[in-house]
Amino acid sequence: MQILGVDIGGSGIKGAVVDTETGELVTERIRIPTPQPATPEAVAQTLKQLVDQIGFKGPIGCGFPARVINGEVLTAANIDKSWISVKVEELFSKVVGQKVVVANDADVAGLAELGFGAVKGYKGPVLFLTIGTGIGSALFINGQMYPNTEFGHLKFKGDVAEHYCADSVREKEDLGFKEWGERLNKFLEYIAFLTQPDFIVLGGGVSKKFDKYKDKLTLSTKVVPATTLNLAGIIGAALYAQSRQ
Ligand code: BGC
Repeated sequence: MQILGVDIGGSGIKGAVVDTETGELVTERIRIPTPQPATPEAVAQTLKQLVDQIGFKGPIGCGFPARVINGEVLTAANIDKSWISVKVEELFSKVVGQKVVVANDADVAGLAELGFGAVKGYKGPVLFLTIGTGIGSALFINGQMYPNTEFGHLKFKGDVAEHYCADSVREKEDLGFKEWGERLNKFLEYIAFLTQPDFIVLGGGVSKKFDKYKDKLTLSTKVVPATTLNLAGIIGAALYAQSRQ
């Protein structure tokens, strides 16, 4: 099936039409800067611009950086606070003029890794984490998603986990990859203890730099970098929309 997958992020809104059988992009990936302030109406207009630019008619799926339950945004950790309680599927569908389905960005990126990435086809328990400005999480078993886990917001080391070891914290505190890797290891140990996955898949920008910190990851659970890289959000959003057809 050909589905438009869209990855809505803090700095860019990226999309392409995906062949959901192969995971290949069938159109060029388009990126439009996220409007600032990124209010619901402004983001919806940018999404429309992206859909129009691609000239797509058909199912559309979006990954969104918040807890999204039954089409409604429930949290706003790293996005404009005006998103809370917005019925995002309704809003996007109305503005775009076509049906748009929306899910948490980490949940959909995890789907891409199960479909075409590091844990392709794996049926056992998998924890996917996307590490960037915040930390997103997704849990899977038997290829099925347990959505909206938000483990990046677990209380950890006196704050929440994403304030301790997100990639943005590494940059802000000017941590080397070794020091940051030690932090990440502590969090991974904790989350592996809670969820007992066979694999932890690390996505987000740090997946490309895995070699720089992998020696610090001493937990017994297997940790692997994501392989769908910056396309995970787009491919996964298309797979998610397919599951909602
Ligand atoms: C948000 C999550 C999101 C993650 C990655 C966190 O701050 O709460 O919903 O999945 O960032 O974007």
